[in-house]
Amino acid sequence: MVSAHIENALNGQIEVEARSSQYYLSMASWADTKGFSGVSQFLYRHSDEERQHMLKLIHYVNERGGKAVIPSLDKPPSDFDSIQTIFKDLFEHEQRVTRQINEVVDACLKEKDYTTHNFMQWYVSEQIEEEALARNILDKLALIGNDKGGLYLFDRELGAMQSH
Ligand code: FEO
Repeated sequence: MVSAHIENALNGQIEVEARSSQYYLSMASWADTKGFSGVSQFLYRHSDEERQHMLKLIHYVNERGGKAVIPSLDKPPSDFDSIQTIFKDLFEHEQRVTRQINEVVDACLKEKDYTTHNFMQWYVSEQIEEEALARNILDKLALIGNDKGGLYLFDRELGAMQSH
């Protein structure tokens, strides 16, 4: 059984994952309209993954005797300056998500909820991969700069890449 405090913390995380999914969906749609089909495929997949992260939490909360709350969400930004901006925003967003996950883990330790602590380790590992991937993409974009041919190849590469 999860305590009320942990239940709240996990419901907060459900909202974070839901927001991530909406945010990346908005980025995907923007890239789609700008002719970056590879980037948009990558981001559509990433958005789906965030939804899976949310669902995993919903199932866990309900299995542990809590009640998962489905959040309402603010409209995400729908315009972006460039592909570079998108991945910079994505990286910063993932860093915030990591901090949020650390807060949940910290709450588990304080409450001695080792079961939820164990469950959350999957998210801790996931964040290492997501941050590394975003950093790697930003490094590539920095190398490409304003080179249109480079950006074309980058788009193709992202279309073929798993989001992690
Ligand atoms: Fe589920 Fe990208 O954090």
